[in-house]
Amino acid sequence: MLQAGGRRPRGRCHIITFGCQMNEYDSLTMASLLEESYVLTETPEDADLIIVNTCSIREKAEHKLYSLVGRFKRLKENRQGLKIAVCGCVAQQEGDRLFKRMPHIDLVFGPQGLYRLPEMLEQLEADGRPVLCAELREDFSIPNIPRGRAGLDPVRAYVTIMQGCDNFCTYCIVPYVRGREVSRPAEHIVEEIGQLVDMGIKDVTLLGQNVNSYGRKGGGGMGFADLLRLIDRQFPGIRLRFTTSHPRDLSRDVMECFDSLDTLCEHLHLPVQAGSDRILKRMNRHYSRQEYLEKVRLLREIRPDMVLTTDLIVGFPGESSEDFRQTLTLVDRVRFAQAFAFKYSPRPGTAAARFKDVVPEDEKGRRLSALIALQERIGLECYRELEGTIQEVLIERVHPSDPGMLQGRTRGNHVVNLEGHEGLVGTYQDVEIFQACNHSLKGRLQAGDRDDNERGMQKESPFLRGSDHEDHTDARTCDNP
Ligand code: 5AD
Ligand code: SF4
Repeated sequence: MLQAGGRRPRGRCHIITFGCQMNEYDSLTMASLLEESYVLTETPEDADLIIVNTCSIREKAEHKLYSLVGRFKRLKENRQGLKIAVCGCVAQQEGDRLFKRMPHIDLVFGPQGLYRLPEMLEQLEADGRPVLCAELREDFSIPNIPRGRAGLDPVRAYVTIMQGCDNFCTYCIVPYVRGREVSRPAEHIVEEIGQLVDMGIKDVTLLGQNVNSYGRKGGGGMGFADLLRLIDRQFPGIRLRFTTSHPRDLSRDVMECFDSLDTLCEHLHLPVQAGSDRILKRMNRHYSRQEYLEKVRLLREIRPDMVLTTDLIVGFPGESSEDFRQTLTLVDRVRFAQAFAFKYSPRPGTAAARFKDVVPEDEKGRRLSALIALQERIGLECYRELEGTIQEVLIERVHPSDPGMLQGRTRGNHVVNLEGHEGLVGTYQDVEIFQACNHSLKGRLQAGDRDDNERGMQKESPFLRGSDHEDHTDARTCDNP
């Protein structure tokens, strides 16, 4: 059916995103690719196209996909023309087995295939047969897609700088589902940040499985520290962050950027995974406990107010109680502001899935609880140190469960709740911190708005992260939005 003027009416698309920031970014890329032909809807019930972007990092995330997509069968029976697409890491891993397991799925594609979404939808419309795109290409390069507004948060955005991973940590499925590491040309990254800044974005997080190896393959010969300096020069008004870093590849040059670049916020997520050398070796991490601690020492020498967060795995095969104790002592020593702790989950095809000396589930559970209890205490102590200080807070949104309150973020990535009016969203404010809670801070505005003239900036509401967004951890020791 064509509208007057020859344009097709736009369809309705609902995107559900499981997993990490990479997947969130990929979902926004799909929203941008579909912007001309689809509007995003908030619920699957009123969509013509449902896209489920999946995560396979742990078994639990994978199971959620099956129960969710299973429920869409009924929806499809009642809604003529509804198309169901499954993409992301599980789609890459399972390929056409997904069609066999759930024949109501129309489209399956992996992380490299998503750029072909419009053409796959056309193909589906033309012959009605299921479409599969799950090959992993060695020569893949990241296409440059102009950023649309659909689904975009008004204040914060991610920008992919590299994709894939060559590290093969023995527990990790990522290299098998996201393919080989490839960096994106710096000019594409700068162009995209420019588009986002023009749309009012103030807080940009550079994304990659291992951002510190930026430029090793592809990217035009520029290293990660050079990229940070380039972005800092071009966009002096923003806050810049990056994730994730492999401790082995974190160079002194990059560490010094935390001191020399005004835009680069003093927060670093540096996944350590384990505190024992024996386990780090079995994980194929290529650093020792001592080397990790030395990098932390240097970081804090360069930037004493550096806020560190991490990821930890408990119950990796062969982890003895002494190995686990070393994880606890490392956490105690470093004093992370937050840690994301996970029970080890064997992933098919990875090296560790073949290790025989598994830790029983109940023991994993006990270790996880002990680790969380320790981290909760340390985290609260770190937050308490901020009581009585004045922090620069970027106001991000009206508090989701209390419309009289605002929510913002410090440069160190702490969430701050404070009273204030909606017009302050998107502005920087000086805020006095008066109380630390378990995973957030309470603050009050200092007299006078810092940048009144920025009030009334666009406040389009994001909806990709609605209630369908999965918190991808087994046990998060933080509750950041
Ligand atoms: N089991 C448990 N946790 C895992 N992670 C990655 N693979 C696994 C697995 N098989 C965790 C790591 C990583 C984070 C994103 O997920 O801690 O840093
Ligand atoms: Fe997985 Fe290790 Fe690559 Fe991170 S660095 S994505 S943990 S293989």
